[in-house]
Amino acid sequence: MKTRKVGIIGLGHVGAHVAYSLAIQGIAAELVLVDPKESKLAAEVQDLRDAILYCPHDVKINGGTYADLGDCDAIVNCIGDIDLVASGDRLDELTFTAAQVKGYIHKVMASGFNGFIVNITNPCDVITNILYRESGLPKGHVIGTGTGLDTSRLVSALSLQTGVSPQSISAYMIGEHGASQMAAWSCVNFNGIPLSSLEHEDPKFAFDKPELQKRAIGGGWVTYSGKHCTEYGICSTAARMVRCIFNDEQRIMPASMLLDGEYGEKDVFVGVPVLLGKNGAERVLELPLTAEELANFHKCCDDVRKNIKTAEG
Ligand code: 2OP
Repeated sequence: MKTRKVGIIGLGHVGAHVAYSLAIQGIAAELVLVDPKESKLAAEVQDLRDAILYCPHDVKINGGTYADLGDCDAIVNCIGDIDLVASGDRLDELTFTAAQVKGYIHKVMASGFNGFIVNITNPCDVITNILYRESGLPKGHVIGTGTGLDTSRLVSALSLQTGVSPQSISAYMIGEHGASQMAAWSCVNFNGIPLSSLEHEDPKFAFDKPELQKRAIGGGWVTYSGKHCTEYGICSTAARMVRCIFNDEQRIMPASMLLDGEYGEKDVFVGVPVLLGKNGAERVLELPLTAEELANFHKCCDDVRKNIKTAEG
């Protein structure tokens, strides 16, 4: 019998929304919420319990400590400090967030935890790398939301531009969940019909690509500047990843994943398409990038590698 128990570490806007998404979408059967702020923890536990009657199935909701995460099937890491996001550069969160995850991960592992970690905390690729190295969990069991969120922003911008449903658009943002990420334009297609052929047929498809890419990269800051957080996009991204793993969906979606030779890269976590199933990220898919795109992708990887080094001190 599958337990589908998820631990959520950090109950700010993002953590609380991840919990809510997992509950209302019927993805988790049990949630253990962990946050050092006791009154905030009690408040979120209460509020979520108040929603259970109207969820698709029963969800047990409890507050706990790191020691209570031992039998979780997955953990979603959401720790952070919302005020550090204000600069508009996710790297400004690094000193604080790296110290936080390094401070707690051994407590999680001491609980006997042996499930999957989905990391949201920024800078996402760097923090996912820390969680992978310090947890000792197998490759593919520790992933980050990475450019999964930025891809959703790109697809949304493409949909608004062309009028085509997001469900009929295949497109990827890849690389860093940060300023150096890039759209894999040569691979964008509309249910199999390449953008490169549609742009010659219909003016709606002959759009300004750098402008759309800018919108995908900057989407988070539009949201943050108006409401002092981002929440719906990121919680939906993380919940989808957990769902793919729990249901063995074998779905391809972008996630921050350790590269081991794919794209000619090694030892770096970046956003790439992965196959998600019961063993986590079971495979990295290599997009047929152009030579120019591949060169840009290598630059993204170098940027992330530099930040990983900074985090290692
Ligand atoms: C986002 O892109 C700020 O990384 C967060 O929504």
